[in-house]
Amino acid sequence: MTTNIAVLVSGRGSNLQSIIDNIENGYIKDAKISVVISDVGDAYALERARNHGITDVFIDPSDYSGKQEYEKELMEVLKDNDVGLVLLAGYMRLVGKDLIAAYRNSIINIHPALLPSFKGLHAQQQAFEYGVKVSGCTVHFVDEGMDTGPIIIQKCVPVLDTDTADDLAARILEQEHKIFPEAVKLFVEGKLKVEGRIVVHT
Ligand code: GRF
Repeated sequence: MTTNIAVLVSGRGSNLQSIIDNIENGYIKDAKISVVISDVGDAYALERARNHGITDVFIDPSDYSGKQEYEKELMEVLKDNDVGLVLLAGYMRLVGKDLIAAYRNSIINIHPALLPSFKGLHAQQQAFEYGVKVSGCTVHFVDEGMDTGPIIIQKCVPVLDTDTADDLAARILEQEHKIFPEAVKLFVEGKLKVEGRIVVHT
């Protein structure tokens, strides 16, 4: 059975691209990106979707009285597309409780640091300024907290003495583009079991 995926984005969409590419090249089987939804009208990610014949939707949060109303519309789009997996790929909003409840353990986020360190915005910069010697990225299920959900995959990268924050971010991004598709593949194949906050790969 095909898993219909919705990808939520706000910006350049390189992680969206990695999912598109890995579906097109057959690494991820039995899955389809049914819709790409952005909260930013001119997000480059929307163009990437259109370039691949994927339905793109812009939902303007300022058209709604609050988060709950905005997400109600978002959930309508998910329902219309019979979505079974929601990916947050550079989506710059905290997901509300109704959406989380509707898609418990079926919303996956990619974060550019080794959680639980450096949650929130500009994680690569935070890690760089802290002076860590290794950093990396984390793919995790989304729960009610910010970057707190059960961890699916993590990947480390070194921080070199010669690095700028941008160098580190680029090294991390390269790994993001590997572990995000890997996690999606595991999910689609039914190989992820969540036990409390531990994700077991079956
Ligand atoms: C990535 O670094 C991702 O980890 C973070 O936001 C950035 C999005 O980049 N959540 P892109 O839009 O996928 O290129």
